[in-house]
Amino acid sequence: MSARKIIIDTDPGQDDAVAILLALASPEDLGLLGITCVAGNVPLSLTSKNARIVCEAAARPDVPVYAGSAAPLARPLITAEHVHGQTGLDGPDLWEPAMPLADGHGVDFIIETLRRHEPGTVTLCTLGPLTNVAAAFNTAPDIIDRVQEIVMMGGAYFEVGNITPAAEFNIYVDPEAAEIVFRSGAPITVMPLDVTHKVLATEPRVEAIRALNTRVGHFTAEMLDFFERFDVEKYGSEGGPLHDPCVIAWLLQPELFSGRHVNVEIETKSDLTLGMTVADWWGVTDRDANAMFIGDADANGFFTLLTERLARL
Ligand code: RIB
Ligand code: CA
Repeated sequence: MSARKIIIDTDPGQDDAVAILLALASPEDLGLLGITCVAGNVPLSLTSKNARIVCEAAARPDVPVYAGSAAPLARPLITAEHVHGQTGLDGPDLWEPAMPLADGHGVDFIIETLRRHEPGTVTLCTLGPLTNVAAAFNTAPDIIDRVQEIVMMGGAYFEVGNITPAAEFNIYVDPEAAEIVFRSGAPITVMPLDVTHKVLATEPRVEAIRALNTRVGHFTAEMLDFFERFDVEKYGSEGGPLHDPCVIAWLLQPELFSGRHVNVEIETKSDLTLGMTVADWWGVTDRDANAMFIGDADANGFFTLLTERLARL
């Protein structure tokens, strides 16, 4: 079977970086058409630099990396240096990437790519705020029906928020963009905090990656050594939750996950609950289901997959 064509839209971010590495380690399964960067964890200048660092760490400077939106659709940018560090990729020694940014805007790349490929054959993997995808849908509504699936990391229901008491970061940064995407009608699979908080990079799991004793193994372990601080301190968890790699793992081994097809609406008005993903998990409304909302994962199976694939780089 031919590799599934994907675009990764991202705001690296250590967990984004691991997701990108997992995709690059799986070329027989995933054909990465390009990476579009968005402002989120850190400003666009850094997310678009970090994405190229990750590609070079995987010896893949051929992957086209585009700079996309520098700010949310209708709000000032909120960043998360308190989680990811000032560089957005704190942990390993970093470098100035030699590979240039691809020419053109990330939003235009999303539009042109979806128009160029057969309808239903390109999957959008979103790992950050949904600004780029929403802007592409606003600019070119014709591409919505051409999307095979949007697999996103974002939102929370039972796990509630990580940036406010009610909202998860990716949705909170650009709730208007999230509302556009969730109401678009495109097939959506959501990896919310409900599931990502169950795939924790505990010490044994990080040491298994470090023990690969490869450039990528050490790079990944050093990112995770830094990334876990915030969640261990806040939640008392045993390690950092690998949020974004869940998106790629879903494409590689969906059987690792379980969830429900439910209605998800986005709070865009209330200051108190701005960015909340209101998931009708119990079916108490007559609102149409618009997303596969994932609630559980086989964490050991996830880390076995991740470690085996990283060993290939
Ligand atoms: O809330 C977690 C999400 O926000 C992850 O995608 C992380 O990288 C940050 O973007
Ligand atoms: Ca991210």
